[in-house]
Amino acid sequence: MAVEKHKPVTPALTEWEYAPAPEARDIVSLEERYGLYVGGELVEPRSGEWFTTLSPATEEPLAEVAQAGAEDVDSAVTAARGAFQDGWSGLAPSERAKYLFRIARILQERSRELAVLESLNGGKPIRESRDVDLPLAAAHFFYYAGWADKLEYAFPNRRPLPLGVAGQIIPWNFPLLMLAWKIAPALAAGNTVVLKPAETTPLTALFFAEVCRQAELPPGVVNIVTGDGRTGAEIVRHDGVDKIAFTGSTEVGKAIQRELAGTGTRLTLELGGKAANIIFDDAALDQAVEGIVNGIYFNQGHVCCAGSRLLVQESIYEATIAKLKRRLETLRVGDPLDKNTDVGAINSRMQLEKIAELVEAGKEEGAEIYQPPCRLPEKGYWFAPTVFTNVAQSYRIAQEEIFGPVLSVLTFRTPEEAIEKANNTPYGLSAGVWTEKGSRILWMAERLRAGVVWANTFNRFDPSSPFGGYKESGFGREGGRHGLEPYLRFDA
Ligand code: NAI
Ligand code: MG
Repeated sequence: MAVEKHKPVTPALTEWEYAPAPEARDIVSLEERYGLYVGGELVEPRSGEWFTTLSPATEEPLAEVAQAGAEDVDSAVTAARGAFQDGWSGLAPSERAKYLFRIARILQERSRELAVLESLNGGKPIRESRDVDLPLAAAHFFYYAGWADKLEYAFPNRRPLPLGVAGQIIPWNFPLLMLAWKIAPALAAGNTVVLKPAETTPLTALFFAEVCRQAELPPGVVNIVTGDGRTGAEIVRHDGVDKIAFTGSTEVGKAIQRELAGTGTRLTLELGGKAANIIFDDAALDQAVEGIVNGIYFNQGHVCCAGSRLLVQESIYEATIAKLKRRLETLRVGDPLDKNTDVGAINSRMQLEKIAELVEAGKEEGAEIYQPPCRLPEKGYWFAPTVFTNVAQSYRIAQEEIFGPVLSVLTFRTPEEAIEKANNTPYGLSAGVWTEKGSRILWMAERLRAGVVWANTFNRFDPSSPFGGYKESGFGREGGRHGLEPYLRFDA
């Protein structure tokens, strides 16, 4: 008798279904309208102008925000000057530190509200705003609070003194974190500030005004003016400002540098990037693939130090691309407030158009495009995670900053070739190296023209570590002891 054998049938698992896991949006209560934070009060703009700020995931209007004009900027600078002279600069450094510690603790206590607001207004996944932006923002204040009464030790025999009023202009990709990078060192060094958030993401900065009030920070030490590039230009132009700190596009950075040439106003610029993420054939490939994904799809690729150019050693090219494509299929694109989401909404329609234009150029120039199957929401601004292979160094997608979830893949054979290709860019902000060999990491790091070189990791930040660029990525450093220097003068 023939025995019939039944093979157990286990269907291959093709899809993971996740139940929605929305973060509670109603822990944030929004005002209908937000004025400017000047001299410790929220005031109506003298310009009389307002604009609407949206959720990029739904295009739903969230609130009306003031468009500050020249007079508004002037009153903010006057408030900052007054606060500088009437106490802040003369306050015992240990007392300044107490305010910074207080702000840091309030950011921690209110981190859930702030994370929701950041994701709502900017489109980034709540997992990132909760686990990256907020902890790092608080860490920055804690870190610089620690320096406030130790400046004499940070710069021995140099008699550090504050500059006065710092004008600070920040972008939309890490709204609260960039605010922290700017405000914490400025205050620790004894300056007062006028800060302008980006026009698409003003809400966490306005919430921060409330944090300052809660911390009982003296009025005028921090002033927040909202508005677009015109407001930024007024801050730059104002002759009551002693220092400008700018993070944003290279184009605007250059314009600011031209405007300030010869004025004596101090300047630091943190601009764009086109970082190489370099994978050698001895790298732990699975970890490297995670690093590639984190390098370019973190925050929808809206990251100045994003690993947007992947350089893979030729011998492992096929294996790397196969693993990368498989990994991309598991990325969940969608609602920023869903805790399962990996890739959220593109920050604005303008940015979406820029990404789409460069992706079109990549196709036309002859690169091969891959996008994993994913359903994008109908409303809002979305772009699927994208990989380009067959990319030549001359293509626009290999040269220009896309600032979106788009990776350009190139190959190399030798370490020398990797260096040459990695450095073949007008930028010089960051780079990544993946290899098992410590000696090769050091060899590479010595030759890469980049402010930050990550080894066997990517997009890692720590307040104690200086960050900044070479060439068209700007100048000056933020973070660490280095980050205090641009806010001090030395009376030697
Ligand atoms: P942007 O440089 O125009 O905006 C950054 C900040 O500068 C915003 O607060 C804006 O209001 C302000 N601003 C604009 N024009 C100004 C002016 N003339 N004077 C003073 N302040 C001014 O950047 P945008 O247009 O939002 O993005 C364009 C591209 O720039 C992006 O696609 C990306 O490639 C790059 N970018 C790089 C960033 C980085 O972190 N390095 C951040 C944002 C954008
Ligand atoms: Mg612009």
